Amino acid sequence: MKLIKLVSIWNPKGGQGKSTLAINLAAASVELGLKPLVICQDPQGTSLLYYKSGNLPFEVIDSVPSHRPEADIVIFDHQASDWEVPANNLIVMPLKPARDQYATYIDAYRRAELLGKRIITVVTDGQEHRASEKQTMDYLKNKGAYAIAASGVFSRAASEYMTIFDPKMNKAYKIKERRMEINKILANILIENEEVKNND
Ligand SMILES: Nc1ncnc2c1ncn2[C@@H]1O[C@H](COP(=O)(O)OP(=O)(O)OP(=O)(O)O)[C@@H](O)[C@H]1O
Ligand SMILES: [Mg+2]
Repeated sequence: MKLIKLVSIWNPKGGQGKSTLAINLAAASVELGLKPLVICQDPQGTSLLYYKSGNLPFEVIDSVPSHRPEADIVIFDHQASDWEVPANNLIVMPLKPARDQYATYIDAYRRAELLGKRIITVVTDGQEHRASEKQTMDYLKNKGAYAIAASGVFSRAASEYMTIFDPKMNKAYKIKERRMEINKILANILIENEEVKNND
């Protein structure tokens, strides 16, 4: 039986980029010829809303399927205030580097670390010109975190319920850079060796 990669996108703090990352990682994996499935574990259903708009080249469902899905990678989009460390071994934790957002990430990270999870940290929407945010970003990047720069492409894509990989976004400002940032995170997710940690 073929292996299915399972990855949870998790941060109990709201609005950190979980749903954005979930659907864009899925879109990036379609570009690689893989078949992703997104499981929206949020009753607010941001990623499900995208799917219902009909613009996604992959499926989003609202609960864990009872049968083994036909997919290469299953991405779980968690809801805000979900403090339970996800069951999957691989957890991607997006966070915005503003000081008041950071504490929740640290707390949640420690819980996941205690359970021996493989954690990939992604700093989203960081404002380089704000000294405190830059400091947090630099600190986390030094520890192996990825970053997705603050960019208007995400709200633009969101306004039409698309991912940034949609061909309609091809001419958007610095789209190649943003896509590359997501591709790099996906490459790390797809590394088979579970011993490889990026956040130690
Ligand atoms: N790199 C980025 N640059 C600019 N805006 C971003 C970036 N990443 C995410 N955003 C924006 O941040 C907002 C919150 O993102 P998103 O809905 O993905 O967060 P979430 O963690 O899923 O929120 P919730 O906890 O409510 O489910 C959205 O408006 C999204 O477009
Ligand atoms: Mg969400």
